[in-house]
Amino acid sequence: MAKLQILHYPDPRLRTIAKPVSVFGDEIERIVADMFETMYGAPGIGLAATQVNIAKRILVTDTSRDGSDPRCFINPQIVETRGIEQMEEGCLSVPDVFENVERAEWIRVQAFDQHGTAFELELDGLLAVCVQHEIDHLDGKLFVDHLSSLKRSRIRRKFEKAQKQAL
Ligand code: NI
Repeated sequence: MAKLQILHYPDPRLRTIAKPVSVFGDEIERIVADMFETMYGAPGIGLAATQVNIAKRILVTDTSRDGSDPRCFINPQIVETRGIEQMEEGCLSVPDVFENVERAEWIRVQAFDQHGTAFELELDGLLAVCVQHEIDHLDGKLFVDHLSSLKRSRIRRKFEKAQKQAL
């Protein structure tokens, strides 16, 4: 297993639209294992392949905060939603920024696990929010895209400045 490098906003590679996984096997299982290691090492509660510069529709989550609920969603599709709720979100690609975002409060999601087995789940609460946030990543979207343009440009300036100072 290997820890992967996480891209940071406003890296244009975070705008890549990921492609569906069509062949399951060792390569996908290795990517998923590396993504879990990267997410737990960060530490974070969710990670999309886009964030580690892999353009495949894979995401991992563990909202337990004690490592007891690892989940993998490949080619995830939200097929039904209910309600709206607001929750404070953060993102490993946008460190130290936390803002309220509106999402569906309940979702039905279909996906495959890392071995290629199809499943369907009904989710609510933090895990529902997390899965919606990570699916956004697979479509090249970030949670800051849900904020006002004023807030977003403030955050963007902050990160551009930090990157210049790091050079
Ligand atoms: Ni994120």
